[in-house]
Amino acid sequence: MLDVKHDIIRGIGAFLSEAERRRAEALKSERDRRRFTACRGQLRQILASRLGISPSDVELEYGQLGKPQLSHRMPSRNLRFSVSRSGDVAVIALSTGQEVGVDIEAVLPVPEADEIAALCFSASDYESYAALGPDDRLEGFFRRWTRLEAISKGLGCGLGYPSSWDEQDWVVRSFVPKTGYLGSVVVRK
Ligand SMILES: CC(C)(COP(=O)(O)OP(=O)(O)OC[C@H]1O[C@@H](n2cnc3c(N)ncnc32)[C@H](O)[C@@H]1OP(=O)(O)O)[C@@H](O)C(=O)NCCC(=O)NCCS
Repeated sequence: MLDVKHDIIRGIGAFLSEAERRRAEALKSERDRRRFTACRGQLRQILASRLGISPSDVELEYGQLGKPQLSHRMPSRNLRFSVSRSGDVAVIALSTGQEVGVDIEAVLPVPEADEIAALCFSASDYESYAALGPDDRLEGFFRRWTRLEAISKGLGCGLGYPSSWDEQDWVVRSFVPKTGYLGSVVVRK
């Protein structure tokens, strides 16, 4: 949960690197600054506890399209992670060895859902989506959408980047991080 008390944010904020602090400061709203800090600080705490180091000593590096990963200078390069934030909720997925991706979204009406589905979903996904009744459409859309985003985050490419991937290469689980949200976590087989 990202909307934590100010004194907790202050404590967690001390773990952030200079660059992360600059990124937080550049955010316009105070709420967004707090949420970014809470998420990045907790990511550092979780990674640090796995690596047996202090949260402020965790070094991250970034892929070409912004995917954060542990720096090659860290003791365990085998530890992979993926982060997703939506509103006041964040999820951090960890994996040892195999690449991991996670995405969560607040389940809110998307007027252009059918167009997005036609554009982005695979043929079989679109077919099963289009067959859903009106009551199941919204959840069906977010189930497929978060799976797509989670895979693209596992690959580190982001959705706007042309890439061919096979969903069969990934183990997929859907979950509810909080009432009103849906998420997918994927791990490469
Ligand atoms: C990466 C991306 C999928 C994030 O999705 P989102 O739903 O907006 O945001 P989420 O909260 O789920 O994920 C954000 C987290 O993903 C991670 N991330 C950022 N870039 C990433 C990438 N290329 N691959 C994997 N993970 C990435 C970061 O941990 C980030 O957390 P932070 O903001 O606290 O640093 C999206 O921004 C993207 O596609 N970026 C690439 C550029 C692009 O293709 N743009 C056009 C989009 S159609």
